[in-house]
Amino acid sequence: MDSNREQFGSRMAAVLALAGSAVGLGNIWRFPYMVGEYGGAIFLIFYLIFTFFLSLPVFYAEAIIGKKGRKGAFGSFSALAPGTNWKLVGVLCIVSCFIITSYYSVVGGWATDYLARSVATGFESLSQSTATSLFSKVSSSVWEPIIAHTVFLGLAAIIIKLGIKNGIEKFTKITMPILFVLMILIMFFSLSLDGAKEGVKYMLRPDFSKFSAKTLAFALGQSFFSLSLGMGTVLTYASYMRDEDSIASAGLYTSIFDFSFALISAFVVIPAVFAAGLEPGAGPSLVFESLPYIFSKMGQTAPVLSRVVTIFFFLSVFFAAITSLISMFEVCTAHLVEDRKISRTKASLIIFFSCWLLGILCSLSFGVLEDIKLFGYTIFSFFDTLASNYLMTLGALLFVLFVGWKMDRESAIDQFSMRKSRKREKTFPYFYFVIKYVAPVVIIAIFLSNFIK
Ligand code: PHE
Repeated sequence: MDSNREQFGSRMAAVLALAGSAVGLGNIWRFPYMVGEYGGAIFLIFYLIFTFFLSLPVFYAEAIIGKKGRKGAFGSFSALAPGTNWKLVGVLCIVSCFIITSYYSVVGGWATDYLARSVATGFESLSQSTATSLFSKVSSSVWEPIIAHTVFLGLAAIIIKLGIKNGIEKFTKITMPILFVLMILIMFFSLSLDGAKEGVKYMLRPDFSKFSAKTLAFALGQSFFSLSLGMGTVLTYASYMRDEDSIASAGLYTSIFDFSFALISAFVVIPAVFAAGLEPGAGPSLVFESLPYIFSKMGQTAPVLSRVVTIFFFLSVFFAAITSLISMFEVCTAHLVEDRKISRTKASLIIFFSCWLLGILCSLSFGVLEDIKLFGYTIFSFFDTLASNYLMTLGALLFVLFVGWKMDRESAIDQFSMRKSRKREKTFPYFYFVIKYVAPVVIIAIFLSNFIK
């Protein structure tokens, strides 16, 4: 192993970085409306079961590869299966991360824009229709979203350039606790609004009429996306863990963090939506249209409080998104630095510029390029669908196959618990069984469900 390779300073630092990757737009923006659309409590229960019984083992498989390979995605596969085509899985990870970084940064840019607006002027006297036209200005004009995307991606590039310890570790150590505290405060605030109870009931009442095979596929897909599985981010971060830190507990804490955060976000968004008399099924526009409207409505009676909550909320979205973005950025960076021997500064610049260009196309596809279609999708949704429905699932499948069928069991168990905590090793046979037999079948099933209309 390269003795100069940087590492996280402690297990806590690794967990916070992993949680930073996991907790993202998927939690704040996607999870709440999925709960709304796919049957409330039923969706929640399946999501909970999938997260701990299926996604967690997949997380372990991915982390085992990185911790044993001690390199990024490409380097780890090259080291563990030299002379084989397994390194192509590394290429797959780099391609997926490159794509997601590009379009995720566009949405992160919107969050940055809303944060800047909430600090500068707040959202006074928005009606529902002006909230909608504000969002279309922020997302579909030419320059404003491109500038926001540039700022957002640029900040990520700076953190990446600073390295693992001084960049990623320091940043996530500061932002993750702040993010949690802010969201918990906003949750109490949201739950205290008049009419919020209806929202809580809505979330906790199982709506069997909305249950179908799709509910299962979406719950599992969301759980994978939310834990950042299948793209090499878990692998790459695990490769920066110290020898003595066990994957077993890091994975468990990360899943607990991620699950709690998804739940907290839903308890922020859905009760507020009900309190304002809006529809929870509004889908993706909930965070960028409904919430600013709700905050502005509150501002009529409590302007200061509403302003503070607005700033806290968009600051949370911003932190959640940027800590996820840097994890994907790092997958690409690790490859250029380790396998291509390019300096970290140069690598971050190269990735910044290439993702910036692709991101611009994605951004413009909400406006002037909206008529350009790839397989019937706009540029943005084409890349989103390609990466999160296909490439990510394929990546996850190859990880579990590698650990279950290619790597020997002893190496896997060594990485899993580092032999220190004998107690945790007892759970290994269960996880190994899932990795080897259950996960491949289930992942293939989700993959195929993409083709069911
Ligand atoms: N888990 C992140 C979220 O919930 C998204 C992500 C996916 C990040 C894959 C890194 C890799 O938003």
